[in-house]
Amino acid sequence: MDKLVIRGGNRLAGKVTASGSKNSSLPVIAATLLSGQGCFTLHRIPDLQDIRTFTQLLNHLGAETSFSGNTLTVSTGNVESLLAPYELVKKMRASIYVLGPLLARFGEAKVSLPGGCAFGPRPIDLHLMAMEKLGAEISIETGFITAKAPGGRLNGACIEFPTSSVGATGNALMAAVLARGTTTILNAAAEPEIETLCFFLSAMGARIAGTGTTELLIEGIDSLSSVEFTNVFDRIEAGTLLAAAAITGGSITVDGVEPEQLRSVLKKFIHAGCTVTRTEDSVTLASPETLVATDITAKPYPSFPTDMQAQWTALMTQAEGTSRITDKVYHERFNHIPELNRLGAHIDIIKNQAVVHGPRKLSGTKVMSTDLRASACLVLAGLVAEGVTDVLRVYHLDRGYEKIETKLASLGAEIAREKYREFD
Ligand code: EPZ
Repeated sequence: MDKLVIRGGNRLAGKVTASGSKNSSLPVIAATLLSGQGCFTLHRIPDLQDIRTFTQLLNHLGAETSFSGNTLTVSTGNVESLLAPYELVKKMRASIYVLGPLLARFGEAKVSLPGGCAFGPRPIDLHLMAMEKLGAEISIETGFITAKAPGGRLNGACIEFPTSSVGATGNALMAAVLARGTTTILNAAAEPEIETLCFFLSAMGARIAGTGTTELLIEGIDSLSSVEFTNVFDRIEAGTLLAAAAITGGSITVDGVEPEQLRSVLKKFIHAGCTVTRTEDSVTLASPETLVATDITAKPYPSFPTDMQAQWTALMTQAEGTSRITDKVYHERFNHIPELNRLGAHIDIIKNQAVVHGPRKLSGTKVMSTDLRASACLVLAGLVAEGVTDVLRVYHLDRGYEKIETKLASLGAEIAREKYREFD
């Protein structure tokens, strides 16, 4: 198993380029199932465990894929299986993204129920509600979802989501583009990852209005084409790298950022005392001598993203004053806090709110990753902790960050990946 060994105390400096977005790659790759014509060429796809798991799933269904550098080619003309097995779905819950496209193109799908994850149950009721609205007959037996479109084709409908859901919006979009008639999606997720999916589907020939907003109008058509497409950059990775500069008292530039996609996070960095300058595709952040405690509440886009909440919590351990961290998307997304407190932080959890008392000197020790963003949070803490911090089980980190230790080392961090064995 791998760990990251970090000696804290270095101020980060220099320039780094963000990778392609994981959370837009996954629905885009799923959407290749919508067209069996020709071959898709997808650029700026990050080389991550989740991407490899997803291509494994497509191969299992019968698609041909090849991945070199950050370009993924996919052809789904020979897809013959419509079953997404438990062994693959349990590795990555985003496998549920195959439900919509399989239903749309083949009129049926059988997908294992996804697991939860470290920060709570991850229901899929909104995904299933959307499919039923479009006419699918859904049954759940022996841990599998079986979905069938009567007559082999879905029918356009009005889908109104009671809560904003990125995944369910993605599945609804991919199901609606080949449905008979028009579909309206109300209270759609407006995250950049969904906007990117809309751009991709439109490039394939889909008819979508309202891209980037919470109200989408889709006119179903009979078929879609394969295309060449370049993925958007990863805004969460960019935000994490900027937080690394802020927590170490450094100053860095991250290239390949669409600053507008990080607007809510940049505003909080500025409130915390950082100097932030931006061009159309880069952000430079310089940390102040003293960080100012700054509250955040994670909510759907364009608010502060839940996927930056753990990283912000780590940063606030170094800020002057008390910060209150609330997550309205995942109320219990606080598994990183006991590990931060083991490093010397003083954080209390009071009624679904993390109260961070800062600044606190952190001292390096062994800490355990529990999920993707929690592991990123512990890496940030290790960069500022005195002495050496071992972040264990970095397979969590490898799901969503491409070569993160290489990027941080290039900015002056003392960080290395090492093998280790865990006691049974
Ligand atoms: C996506 O997950 C991201 N994953 C998550 O990022 C991210 O945290 C999340 O969106 C919120 O932004 C990918 O894109 C692969 P949701 P998703 O459906 O689609 C509830 C990371 O770190 N809900 O928007 O699963 C749900 O419980 C990962 O990269 C239902 O109740 O999230 C949550 O409270 C972690 N029923 C809220 O909606 C449903 O059917 C938002 O979830 C679906 C969701």
